Amino acid sequence: MHCLRNCWHQIAWAEELAEDAMLARTVLGEDVVLFRNEGVASALRDRCPHRFAPLSLGKLEAGQVTCPYHGLRFADTGMCVHNPHGAAVASLAVQRYPLVERHDALWIWMGDAGAADPGSIPDLSFIEACPETAKIRSYTAVDAHYELLTDNIVDLSHADYLHPTSLGSGFNTRTKARITEAEDRVVVAWESDSEDAPPAFQIASPAKLWTIVDWFAPAVMVVRAGGHPVADPAAMLDTLNLHSMTPATETSSHYFACNTRSFKLEDAGFNAFLRGQLLHAFQVEDKPMVEAVQRRMGTTDLWSLRPAMFPSDRGAVCVRRRLAKMIAAETGS
Ligand code: FES
Ligand SMILES: [Fe+2]
Repeated sequence: MHCLRNCWHQIAWAEELAEDAMLARTVLGEDVVLFRNEGVASALRDRCPHRFAPLSLGKLEAGQVTCPYHGLRFADTGMCVHNPHGAAVASLAVQRYPLVERHDALWIWMGDAGAADPGSIPDLSFIEACPETAKIRSYTAVDAHYELLTDNIVDLSHADYLHPTSLGSGFNTRTKARITEAEDRVVVAWESDSEDAPPAFQIASPAKLWTIVDWFAPAVMVVRAGGHPVADPAAMLDTLNLHSMTPATETSSHYFACNTRSFKLEDAGFNAFLRGQLLHAFQVEDKPMVEAVQRRMGTTDLWSLRPAMFPSDRGAVCVRRRLAKMIAAETGS
């Protein structure tokens, strides 16, 4: 997999990378090892230049990694700093990827390092702005192509069928989504003045509801979801949610999610309840469904399978078109 190299991908939540342990993750088909040196996170290719042993199986000491096979040692710059078999020459360096810690997350750039501008990471400052007691982060490894996960968020009508006890109430099916497109952005908005609220929202029905998905290329989505009882606008509840997908291989992805809310900011009991609801939806309902879809599709391109199309697919089709354009520009095809 060589596309989407020239963009930032979330590779981990910052909290997943402890000071004294390495984290191995595959991104765009390449094996990467993450570790910290005095708190600063780095990403190196997880493949020793000698006989290609995974460095992530080696030892991390004082911010340097020793290969478990024949003992080469590398600094966080990727330079070899110790070779028990000869000189630690420059050609023994291992590739280092630009890495930025921002919005509670670690973002990696797999393309030309000179073009890595952290300014192009989407603004997700709502994550830092939310207190820890009102924040629910999750990571899920999914055996499916990242675009199937993107489709899943951009077409939220699935919530009415797959998540009827938490996120679905029929609202996303009954309401026609409004779509707005910009260069590397697609916004899909469902809004209604009077609807049944999904159970997890804990809003009395009938309710004024909104769900707005803001897609940033290639696969970062901010979902605003909330509402209030029609009779009580002051009882408004609102949430901002990140759904961020990173391609691992052609048929697997990293799925990061973060829920933040504007209410019950210090309510640990409610946080635990909502965490349970969300993790059940993502990991027990979404993940097996998207993985089953992947198995049915194999690696055949979606369009060549001639899928039936509904009005609710419009947002996902816009996103897929924009991605196809980006990939074509990158690969020159
Ligand atoms: S494979 Fe790493 S030192 Fe030999
Ligand atoms: Fe879902």
